[in-house]
Amino acid sequence: TSAASDGGDATSGGSVRVPSTSGRWRRFGAWRCGGGCCCRGRLRALRSPCPRPPPRAPRPGRAGGRGGAARRWRRWGRWRRGGGTLALGSALAAGELELHPPPFPWSHSGALAALDHASVRRGFQVYRQVCSACHSLEYVAFRNLIGVSHTEAEAKALAEEVQILDGPDENGEMFLRPGKISDYFPKPYPNTEAARAANNGALPPDLSYIVNARHGGEDYVFSLLTGYCDPPTGVTVREGLYYNPYFPGQAIGMAPPIYSEILEYDDGTPATMSQIAKDICTFLRWAAEPEHDHRKRMGLKMLMISGLLISLLYYLKRHKWSVLKSRKMVYRPPK
Ligand code: HEC
Repeated sequence: TSAASDGGDATSGGSVRVPSTSGRWRRFGAWRCGGGCCCRGRLRALRSPCPRPPPRAPRPGRAGGRGGAARRWRRWGRWRRGGGTLALGSALAAGELELHPPPFPWSHSGALAALDHASVRRGFQVYRQVCSACHSLEYVAFRNLIGVSHTEAEAKALAEEVQILDGPDENGEMFLRPGKISDYFPKPYPNTEAARAANNGALPPDLSYIVNARHGGEDYVFSLLTGYCDPPTGVTVREGLYYNPYFPGQAIGMAPPIYSEILEYDDGTPATMSQIAKDICTFLRWAAEPEHDHRKRMGLKMLMISGLLISLLYYLKRHKWSVLKSRKMVYRPPK
């Protein structure tokens, strides 16, 4: 910055000036606008003060920090579309119609925020009444619901409603029995071929880890579920596929699974489309990460304990070293 400060003095005609902080900042700004990283820019800054654009008036109706964040997102989007990196730019051009899910303010996304367990319970209801017709959830057992969204008696009642193939019995035959809480959720199709055959060749993926398995996590699943729309002019979608701008390729084999009031919540929450989508996403986050709440609680404990321990250790270190650091060594030559 030494060249810049010299430059400032040169433009002011060599008169003696007491450098003030604001003056230094102005000069720094002029140097930066002039493209401070190369000598040409610095020379330009030397010759003429940088014409600064007038400050932009705040846009009406967009108060506070959210506008700032939105602007930053838009700028980020423009940079990416413009081919921020060459390879990425050309790859994105092919999927120009693809939308990326925006980040949603999930109640559990804070560093210390737990899952909304009422929402998990509603989400289970959505899975049971809607998604389980096509999607399995094979890594979740009825016992996992206990203490999370259901009581033990409720989980037992839920398990007993399904018939589980067990066996073989003493005659070597398989038999059906009512489910137990140790059973995993039943699958809608016996195998992947049956699943494909029933869905126009598309395989409904297992939902146990879906929010971890897709970029964007629950933001993506929420956008996918609520994002179905008519294809834009000039785009045709094959028979049996549906247009969804959030799905890679935009043609998805899943018919829009939810709409407002597709079910009635046990707890009386109005079952709007976005409420249903939000609840199923919260449930799927729990399914993919059952340790979510425990993990954050342990993190908080770790921070608290290490905070105590580190200050204690620091005190102890000062205490032990105080004698060593304040001692005086004297050389007494032998007489
Ligand atoms: C009628 C059957 C059916 C129902 C009901 C259904 N789905 Fe699907 N789902 C599918 C099929 C088929 C696919 C595979 C689509 C493809 O690959 O083109 C799929 C794919 C998905 C995907 C993966 C998309 C991707 O990125 O690969 C998610 C997530 C999903 N479904 C969530 C849900 C949720 C949540 C529900 C319940 C609200 C639900 N589905 C209900 C049939 C269904």
